[in-house]
Amino acid sequence: MEIAGKVAIVTGGGSGIGEAMVRRLASLGAKVLVADVDDEGGRRVAESVAEMPGVASFLHVDVTSPAELAEMVAQAQRRYGGLDILHNNAGITVGEGEFTEASVLRIEAVVRTNLLGPILGTQAALGALSKSRGVVLNTASASGIRAWVNDPVYSATKAGVVFFTQAAAEQFKPLGVRINAVCPGVVRTPLVQKSARVQAMSDDERSQFEAMIRALPLIEPNEVVDVLVDQITNDDLTGETRLLSRQPMPAEGVTIGGVI
Ligand SMILES: NC(=O)c1ccc[n+]([C@@H]2O[C@H](COP(=O)([O-])OP(=O)(O)OC[C@H]3O[C@@H](n4cnc5c(N)ncnc54)[C@H](O)[C@@H]3O)[C@@H](O)[C@H]2O)c1
Repeated sequence: MEIAGKVAIVTGGGSGIGEAMVRRLASLGAKVLVADVDDEGGRRVAESVAEMPGVASFLHVDVTSPAELAEMVAQAQRRYGGLDILHNNAGITVGEGEFTEASVLRIEAVVRTNLLGPILGTQAALGALSKSRGVVLNTASASGIRAWVNDPVYSATKAGVVFFTQAAAEQFKPLGVRINAVCPGVVRTPLVQKSARVQAMSDDERSQFEAMIRALPLIEPNEVVDVLVDQITNDDLTGETRLLSRQPMPAEGVTIGGVI
């Protein structure tokens, strides 16, 4: 699929990987709906593409709400005349503490955002995507391929996204809709700070954490976007869940430390 002239939705498009994706798609001539709960971030990103060949506009969308997901698809069609690319990218970590301390509300929010969001977003977009023979992209994680000890709930949601992608790819073949996922290791975005309890850290703990992050071979958001663009433009790719990590990944078993 060529990207120029196509209509895309990027959830979590107001920061990090989503922001880089919005900017790349617009630079390649796409029309992009930036869907985020962060109005300030989402508007800033949409406005940042003003000089680019494509266009972007913001819509407040909470991916945990089926009604808002349906409205998101309707708005893409209304504003830009259809839908070719859905990037389910919004995600959060448990973040506020260890699993044993996490509230039920926070655990539910992580599952609803990271797992139910992509599933229901895909379902809401399927009719439009089957008309355009479009593509779904999911931002999963390296922690969906090898269990990540540091955040079991997050890791479980990302493993769910990996298997959803693989299974749905087979179901969607008769519809002409492709679905792929990227599974990054640690990417240089605000999520890395949010995933640790940086606010609750002592000065010593914070400087140790920052030194640990500096020592990691971080991936840049644009490198994740390179994979996503390949997954859009290569018409043979469906059901691909591509790992993008510079950290050693065990052949089996679990990972501890940086991988998210
Ligand atoms: N940063 C990493 O190291 C890393 C590694 C692997 C996977 N990921 C995944 O990449 C995706 C993007 O993360 P990022 O690192 O760019 O983080 P980020 O925090 O910079 O951006 C995430 C965006 O999602 C938005 N968001 C959160 N909850 C939402 C909701 N309910 N509805 C709509 N928008 C919502 C946030 O407002 C934010 O703009 C996530 O799915 C994350 O799990 C990140």
